[in-house]
Amino acid sequence: MSSEPSHSRPPSPPQDTTLSLALGTDAINGSTSLASSGQSVYELRDVVKRFGRGPSAVVALDRVTLTVKQGEFLAIQGPTGEGKTTLLLLLGGLDRPTSGTILYGGRDLSSLSEQELAQLRASAFGFVFQTFNLIPTLTAQENVETALVPVHASPADRRRRAVEMLAELGLADRAKHLPGELSGGQQQRVAIARALVKEPAVLLADEPTGNLDEETRDEIVTLLERLWRARSLTLLMVTHDSTVAQRAQRIAVMRAGRLTAGVSRSA
Ligand SMILES: Nc1ncnc2c1ncn2[C@@H]1O[C@H](COP(=O)(O)OP(=O)(O)OP(=O)(O)O)[C@@H](O)[C@H]1O
Ligand SMILES: [Mg+2]
Repeated sequence: MSSEPSHSRPPSPPQDTTLSLALGTDAINGSTSLASSGQSVYELRDVVKRFGRGPSAVVALDRVTLTVKQGEFLAIQGPTGEGKTTLLLLLGGLDRPTSGTILYGGRDLSSLSEQELAQLRASAFGFVFQTFNLIPTLTAQENVETALVPVHASPADRRRRAVEMLAELGLADRAKHLPGELSGGQQQRVAIARALVKEPAVLLADEPTGNLDEETRDEIVTLLERLWRARSLTLLMVTHDSTVAQRAQRIAVMRAGRLTAGVSRSA
């Protein structure tokens, strides 16, 4: 089990409400508020992200208002250049909004110091990227272990947890391999292991299947779905692929920095 400090997780909702997501309406872009079941992990209100100034400024996010429930699986879909990655970076505390508020577990991310944000990133948020972003000179196991350095796990603890995580993802026999010796799907599984070994509350995945063939794509989405359920994760997945987005409980569509969402379905 993790030695992760409990403050990295937002308060747990009562068991019976975690997945009661027959919501019908939601709070995206200021429409009707979410049904009151479950606890919010994120509350975004009028979030704007502007890059640059003057006439050349780009408004990547335009008054995004969104509530994400604990344990929810939300897909964020939309064409290229519409603000999806920008939103994910803000949710993961990797960047700050120009204006508006982002509450995570009731705390305003904008009000946190760099050190507090770094602490949250190290413990609460796991990231998975389209291009895997593994360190090519480290083995699969060493790549997974890197996630435990910022939380000050001992070397022995890092090794044990990395080995266990890789085994859970079916990669026990690949632990000593370098990324270049692994298939795309295997590399993405190592990246997922790295994201989850610290037992984050939230998994933020940016086009996690974008570089994979269809069969491997389906395998990775099925894996993410299994891990989401087994670990009671809040899973936020950016994708341009409708087949992938359909696997989520709710789909939010991003266009020109504006977010709109369909109706949730029970998983
Ligand atoms: N650091 C930055 N500086 C300036 N402009 C930026 C920066 N990051 C993003 N943008 C701009 O913000 C807009 C949204 O970019 P973003 O990367 O969020 O899109 P996206 O939906 O993730 O696209 P894709 O599907 O291609 O990954 C784009 O016009 C992009 O050029
Ligand atoms: Mg992107």
